[in-house]
Amino acid sequence: MVMALLLFVSLVEAMAVNGLNQQVQRNIGASAGGQALDLAFVMDCTGSMGSYIDTARKHIQAIVDEIVTSSNTTVRLALVEYRDHPPQDNTFVTKTYNFTDSVFMMKIWLNAARATGGGDGPEAVAEALFKATKLSWRPEATKITVLISDAPPHGLVPSQDSSFPGSPTDTIQ
Ligand SMILES: *[C@@H]1O[C@H](CO)[C@@H](O)[C@H](O)[C@H]1NC(C)=O
Ligand SMILES: *[C@@H]1O[C@H](CO)[C@@H](O)[C@H](O)[C@H]1NC(C)=O
Repeated sequence: MVMALLLFVSLVEAMAVNGLNQQVQRNIGASAGGQALDLAFVMDCTGSMGSYIDTARKHIQAIVDEIVTSSNTTVRLALVEYRDHPPQDNTFVTKTYNFTDSVFMMKIWLNAARATGGGDGPEAVAEALFKATKLSWRPEATKITVLISDAPPHGLVPSQDSSFPGSPTDTIQ
């Protein structure tokens, strides 16, 4: 069974433990007998995101503790960081950390995440979500992706999109 839920959060504060946990409960409740949860965070790591990454780092343990305690669920976590396509950003487009059952490992990844660069307004959202589909999702798990971002993808508003008035899909590998 495939169950994907995309939560668009413009403020990570909106990812407060309770809100996300309620979403998770609803989805687990809806999936017959599902006791496995795969939770992927897709995170904009461009310049403006510093405080959001800090908040995610602070709350991730609480979110996982809450989910594990209240739903008796085995949780695995994954992280996809993204910035932008060259020439807007020359560091990386996406950086993927496949699923782990270790909250400790997830924290190490979040601790290493840095907010920098990004160039123009829109970022490589589409590429990041594409990478999220390639993670090692368990077939039987409830699957949730949380997108943490403060900027739109390329290709939506051509007039504000100097580099990629269309979506830069040709660069998706
Ligand atoms: C949690 O799940 C395990 C394994 O499925 C089960 O043995 C245990 O009784 C459950 N605990 C609660 C509190 O539901
Ligand atoms: C995650 O792991 C799976 C299984 O090992 C692999 O097929 C997949 O390519 C990996 N995904 C990414 C984005 O690294």
